[in-house]
Amino acid sequence: SADVRDGAVPDSLVVVSNREPYSHERDDEGEIRVQSAAGGLTSALDPVMQSRGGTWVAWASGDADMAVAEDGIVGVPPSDPVYDLKRVPLSEAAVQGYYYGYANQVLWPLCHEDTGRMWAEPAYWEQYRAVNEQFAEAVDTVADAGQPVWFQDYHLALAPRLVRERRPDATLLQFWHIPWPAPSVFSHCPHSDALLDGLLACDVIGFHTAAYAEQFLRCVDSAFPAATVDIDTGGVTYNGSETRAVANPLGVDVEAVRDRARAADVAAIRDAVLGDSRSNPSIRLALGVERLDYSKGIPERIEALAHLWERRPDLRGAFTYVQKASRTREGIAAYRRYRSDVLDAVERVNDRFGTDDWQPIVYTEAQLDNETLAGLYRAAAVAVVTPHRDGMNLVAHEYPTACVDGDGALVLSDLAGAATHLDGALTVNPHDIAGIADAVEAALELDAADARDRLERLQDSVAALDSSAWVARQFSALK
Ligand code: F6P
Repeated sequence: SADVRDGAVPDSLVVVSNREPYSHERDDEGEIRVQSAAGGLTSALDPVMQSRGGTWVAWASGDADMAVAEDGIVGVPPSDPVYDLKRVPLSEAAVQGYYYGYANQVLWPLCHEDTGRMWAEPAYWEQYRAVNEQFAEAVDTVADAGQPVWFQDYHLALAPRLVRERRPDATLLQFWHIPWPAPSVFSHCPHSDALLDGLLACDVIGFHTAAYAEQFLRCVDSAFPAATVDIDTGGVTYNGSETRAVANPLGVDVEAVRDRARAADVAAIRDAVLGDSRSNPSIRLALGVERLDYSKGIPERIEALAHLWERRPDLRGAFTYVQKASRTREGIAAYRRYRSDVLDAVERVNDRFGTDDWQPIVYTEAQLDNETLAGLYRAAAVAVVTPHRDGMNLVAHEYPTACVDGDGALVLSDLAGAATHLDGALTVNPHDIAGIADAVEAALELDAADARDRLERLQDSVAALDSSAWVARQFSALK
């Protein structure tokens, strides 16, 4: 059997995340319906859990009463259960304080270096601690001796320490899916030491880039003068135990994205998104795909497009920008305001430049399945990914991968983790409205050889980060 201390992927493991890989709801007839979740974390970890087995512990965010039955454990995937899903039910107060509060009004803006949006109500921290306790208890109930436990993301910074107190010999790992900020920014957090202490209970902590890992190490160094921190190896000795911080970029399942793109009916998807009257095939598409999160830079991008259509009247009617947006975290006022600002901006630009036969921006909140999304990528001449900050950004990986016809250009923020790893994009500063306009213009007008070369480099650099390698790299850091 694989020895995890030798750096092998274990035969069986426990994964702990805020979101469930499959969500369970009751339909009108009271029947249980199961849906698999979209998103990078699930698509990378679900195949591993399916091949290795074990238990996935997550918030019962769907129909919570199901979690009370049978200890909250259900077999997944529902068609042919191969691992257990342990659903953790959270009270309404817990959801408000832990998820909408501490995770998304303290840690999210902090790590995206947007400290002006931080709001640290005392109850948020209390609930964050209590929910991390709940997760630690759930792990203690389900984990077999010797089974490594892998925590995911910023919702669970304290749980590793709480599990370590119960299981001193456990193998604990964590992957931090969002950026780790500079020490001068992290010092804004009123609970910075407790968060670092929680994470340092892990044997390995993974980040998308070497820069995030280094910033984490510098935060540890300045918070705990007694700790030994080696920036070069990523090693920390703290209170007699050792932790390694490593760069372990997460990518996408390249073959799966390609297969979906090849299978997609691109013309039909284009028509459905644009609507009949606007589907003039000579109009090229530029595309943005994101949650309506204030870190994503959508208003600046729309303003940039307005500048471009203003100074290049010949581009009016030549390309349409499609914004695929998903509503998110709407229990938080900043997210509701952001959505309304984006909608206003879209309307203003459409009023200003739109004609009877051309709508400059097509905005949709429709839920698209993965195949439709892959078809939309394939239909787009340009993808515009301009977050202020982003841990990685997997749209930047999916888009070039889906460009199976050999054309497509990527405009990419140099402040997304993806910019560290991907070669061939037109990189921009996400606050530079004129610069984004120039980059979109350049992307539309690349000469054929340059365009092909850039897309090939993008596809190669994305393929090098295929998600199958991510799990192996995380465990190999245990060596
Ligand atoms: O990228 C960070 C992340 O928290 C992911 O883990 C998650 O899938 C995504 O953002 C969506 O956020 P939420 O779970 O709050 O809907």
